[in-house]
Amino acid sequence: MTTETKVWKVSAEAPSREALIEAAALLRDGQTVAFPTETVYGLGADARNTEAVADIFAAKGRPSDNPLIVHIADRSQLEELVAPPEEAVLRLLDAFWPGPLTVVLPVKSGALSPLVTAGLSTVGLRMPGHPVALALIAASGCPIAAPSANRSGRPSPTTAAHVLGDLAGRIAGIVDGGEAGVGLESTVVEFAGDALYILRPGGVTAGQLREALPGIPVIEPQAEHREPDAPRAPGMKYAHYAPRGTMVLVQGESDELVHACMQRELDEARARGERTGVLTYAEHADRFRADYVVPCGRMDALETVAHGLYAALREFDEAGIGFIAAEACPEEGLGAAIMNRLRKAAGGRILTV
Ligand code: TXA
Ligand code: MG
Repeated sequence: MTTETKVWKVSAEAPSREALIEAAALLRDGQTVAFPTETVYGLGADARNTEAVADIFAAKGRPSDNPLIVHIADRSQLEELVAPPEEAVLRLLDAFWPGPLTVVLPVKSGALSPLVTAGLSTVGLRMPGHPVALALIAASGCPIAAPSANRSGRPSPTTAAHVLGDLAGRIAGIVDGGEAGVGLESTVVEFAGDALYILRPGGVTAGQLREALPGIPVIEPQAEHREPDAPRAPGMKYAHYAPRGTMVLVQGESDELVHACMQRELDEARARGERTGVLTYAEHADRFRADYVVPCGRMDALETVAHGLYAALREFDEAGIGFIAAEACPEEGLGAAIMNRLRKAAGGRILTV
């Protein structure tokens, strides 16, 4: 599957109509087109077209048991996909759509290609908050299946250059609307019984969900290092977001203990002849001896960490780093999603001091 990947550069706020019409025509024609959302770049295709959806899986090298999120631009598109949502679901949509929230609902049979749902009876639906994504989906007239536009296992893309680095020649086109905003994927939720379960932490925090749903318990996923069992969002079981080097995530009681442990690991790696890297925060950037130090946002402003995380992980690859020591952040608010991604990037290599 090799094609010339067409690139349309557009303004994020006021994308050119012509570019969107061309890109939307490719989507309607059953081709794959990447586009920016407010979370990360997505790789889109008509969710009703099995051949088009198969091309997404092929381009990404994605396991076929991992279902795709379906993106819509208007609530009226819900009708074709799911039964009329219940009151509590509508409250969520009112509070967070358009925005970084994916809601898993029972899917109408025959509404989508079975590849999208990977054989499940449910579909994850999201209305993205990015003007380019909304305009492109609306212009296509299709429900758009769109996973993150990275090769499977790699960090999700937050720029068009990331997408092209992974997928150039494997997809029909990309709408380049500049940097994604949040930098981490949407929060995936599902109602079960009387509770709302967070299947994947993301751009909408548990606190924001609780505020929108008073009286409804919001259940957060157990930290993976404590509960390695039975992930409910199928995608959560795969090694993900991983840089090519070996990454160790260090967490602990105090900054001093954590930094000392990271430095020991770095010194050992250097003694083995590895090029070493550190993933830390602006506040702590001067505390380490290593070949390459990436201050990823500010610890006291976790939205800046989320925004820069995936680009930081890709930087280590570009710098040819073989060993990375990553510093944990507090697990509050957006920190839950950041730590979820860091644990996965570390492939379970977590040290607690
Ligand atoms: O922010 C986002 O959500 C981005 C942008 C492009 O919208 N998309 C994204 O898609 O992150 P993807 O495919 O990389 O991740 C989808 C996640 C996976 O963990 C998948 O298992 C879960 O959502 N998921 C999708 N459909 C599901 C379903 N029916 N039930 C449970 N989990 C589901
Ligand atoms: Mg992904």
